[in-house]
Amino acid sequence: MSQTRPSDAAHPSSVEADTLPVEADAFRGAMARVAGAVHLVTTDGPGGRAGFTASAVCSVSDGPPTLLVCINRSSSAYAAVSANDVLCVNTLAAEQSEIAAAFGGRTPMETRFAAATWTTLVTGAPALPGALSAFDCRIVGRHAVGTHDVLYCEVVGLAEPGDGHGLVYADRRYHTVPLGVVAPREAAA
Ligand SMILES: Cc1cc2nc3c(=O)[nH]c(=O)nc-3n(C[C@H](O)[C@H](O)[C@H](O)COP(=O)(O)O)c2cc1C
Repeated sequence: MSQTRPSDAAHPSSVEADTLPVEADAFRGAMARVAGAVHLVTTDGPGGRAGFTASAVCSVSDGPPTLLVCINRSSSAYAAVSANDVLCVNTLAAEQSEIAAAFGGRTPMETRFAAATWTTLVTGAPALPGALSAFDCRIVGRHAVGTHDVLYCEVVGLAEPGDGHGLVYADRRYHTVPLGVVAPREAAA
């Protein structure tokens, strides 16, 4: 079985773009079938206030609490995130799908942030009231992989958990995931 070398900052891709074994469109189509939680990743500081909708967010470790966030280097939020070295991952509730659309691109930054009132936790990155969770983070590492940077984010503050239903993105649209609802079969057991 052949093995590919893991990507790292010096070698962002293990194969040249024109010899990729899987087309980008096919990969995107396969990923569209993968349901993912929806987050607003926000930042503020010397590089300015910015934010974008993200599904490429994952827990890495609880010691210390660490997330990873993947950001496209061509996104309008990239310069601010890089300069500020802090971000807040706001995990959206089902009722917040409209703000996910606003932060999903092609909307001026001021218009995105005008869609809500914001608070801050530890780093000064904007935290969204009503989010299911808000993870306030300092960026402690990064790797360039293809078109994106993978950011390693140490969690330095948490908001009180929200109590809405979950929001996932799959088949290129938003869906609600009922949370805190006991299924009839479980209730009968
Ligand atoms: C559901 C959803 C998930 C997304 N996930 C990511 C992500 O994980 N990382 C990322 O860089 N962009 C992601 N995007 C795209 C960004 O939200 C945004 O469209 C992109 O950064 C370009 O925005 P711009 O107009 O500010 O440059 C996602 C968009 C949507 C709608």
